Amino acid sequence: MIAKSLFQTPIQISQAKIGLLNAELKKLAIILKEKNNHNEITKSNGFQSVIYKHKDFLITNQFINTQINSINNYISQYQLRKNHEWNITGLWFNINPKYSLNNLHTHCECDFSAVYYIQVPKNSGNIIFENPNAVMLHQGFYQNEFNYNEFNSNSYEIQPQDNMLILFPSYLPHRVEQNLSDKDRISLSFNIKVDIK
Ligand SMILES: [Fe+2]
Repeated sequence: MIAKSLFQTPIQISQAKIGLLNAELKKLAIILKEKNNHNEITKSNGFQSVIYKHKDFLITNQFINTQINSINNYISQYQLRKNHEWNITGLWFNINPKYSLNNLHTHCECDFSAVYYIQVPKNSGNIIFENPNAVMLHQGFYQNEFNYNEFNSNSYEIQPQDNMLILFPSYLPHRVEQNLSDKDRISLSFNIKVDIK
């Protein structure tokens, strides 16, 4: 007999083939950092830009256009019965120098979130998603050591790579480990809201 897995949490990992656009995104991130347009919400010794609309910059608009199929594919897994459209509600850049990290957080007031990795040096920190089932996590049984599988895991860790795009539900808690590289880790995050027509 095989146990069924109920109430799953879908995340989608893909390699975004955006060519020279990646270098343009990096340039924009650095320009925004130099302007010191930062936001204090989740940063820990790193730079997080203010939240923009993706159409605020030609480069970010182009980037989102390259990812439409990927986003559609992810949202289609939810099999919404009514006609719907999705919108990017906000987008921001993160530059994490050596020793910076991002504490555990969720993204509120949106349905899905994404992170695109512009530059990921070796040892610059993994992203760790935590099991959102707090009821389960507080039971003693789940404090044991397990051979990892989808039924017993408290967290799921991904080693980012350049050009990787990760889509996940906005309620899913996540954090980023400390950057132990001498180079900056640079990423672009955005939130998605689905509107039923
Ligand atoms: Fe986040």
